[in-house]
Amino acid sequence: MPAEVHYHDYLQLDKILNAQFPESDKRQLSAHDEMLFIVIHQTYELWFKQLHHEANSIAGIMSKPALNDNSPELQTVVHRLKRIVTILRVLVHQIDIMETMTPMDFLDFRDMLRPTSGFQSWQFKELEAKLGLKFQHRHGQEYYTSQLKKEHVDLIKSTEKENSVLELVNAWLERIPFFNDEADWKGFHVHQKIDGVPSFWAEYRYQYQGSLAEAEKMNIDAFDEIFIKPRSSPDPYTLSAQASRAALFIMLYRGYPILQLPFQLLNALLEIDEQLSSWRYRHMNMVHRMIGTRIGTGGSSGKDYLKAAADKHYIFKEIAQLNSFLIERRKLPHLSVEIERQLGFSNPSA
Ligand code: HEM
Repeated sequence: MPAEVHYHDYLQLDKILNAQFPESDKRQLSAHDEMLFIVIHQTYELWFKQLHHEANSIAGIMSKPALNDNSPELQTVVHRLKRIVTILRVLVHQIDIMETMTPMDFLDFRDMLRPTSGFQSWQFKELEAKLGLKFQHRHGQEYYTSQLKKEHVDLIKSTEKENSVLELVNAWLERIPFFNDEADWKGFHVHQKIDGVPSFWAEYRYQYQGSLAEAEKMNIDAFDEIFIKPRSSPDPYTLSAQASRAALFIMLYRGYPILQLPFQLLNALLEIDEQLSSWRYRHMNMVHRMIGTRIGTGGSSGKDYLKAAADKHYIFKEIAQLNSFLIERRKLPHLSVEIERQLGFSNPSA
């Protein structure tokens, strides 16, 4: 029989509660708020750990060669993505607690911290990489590799090489078998008919073009680039044209119950970006309030660095961008009987 588990031991409270060592104490200087500063960062790191736990499990499920869209596994992926969103919301709100510290309280110990900074949070950087932020898309790349310990840079680099959540979503979207996509999209430009029925995407493109205001007419070029043309090299997109079409299809026809979970999955990714961006902006404004235009303890330009990273580090922006290509419900092409059947809503024997 295993020994009875005690709360204190189970949670390793000896370690956690004895892991706060304010620099001001070591120097025997008074800085009351340094304890808050340490505890809040540790709390963040614990939540980052949980976020990794969720992201790893999502990547594990999505790496499987076949993921049935009606299976409990897809439900699990969506459930855990939503949990990530909920945790991120809490992380945004925790800034309220940090902001109970005034700039003068911070000055009591700020100089003792150099050159440490939240910037050196490898868990945060690794999470960005795991979700889909590639090195070449980072702001201040040299800064990131020079400020972190080598073992942490190596860890993030190896994560950057693995399939990210965004790449796994791309592969999943490419596998979605709603229609004979290949045959269908080839008729994009000419109003081509397949078996007597107008090609779905040709009809869609036609309707989309018709919906554009004069000042938006150029959008049709972006439409063709994203949904039709073969990708150039180097490819600026992570989502392939086929995956982009599948994602747009899911957004358009999410009313079909079979598309509900796929839609929720895409929506959760957008919410993750939104919450991460909210965190970045709240953190940036807090920093501005706390240190004004002074450089950060990590040596960056401070607020300017954070603003540039916030603008550049949207991870799922290719999915968000698809919303530019929606058309009104009443103009949606009618789905063929075959597609309706594949979506599971017409009786094949009828
Ligand atoms: C008084 C409170 C805080 C101040 C003044 C502050 C300041 C800064 C500054 C100036 C930077 C830019 C890098 C540098 O030069 O240091 C930074 C980055 C960062 N901080 Fe904070 N920070 C504070 C609280 C926090 C908290 C509570 C967290 C939670 C983990 C955090 C996490 C981060 C992260 C993850 C980055 C890197 C962001 C990126 O590279 O996009 N910071 N912080």
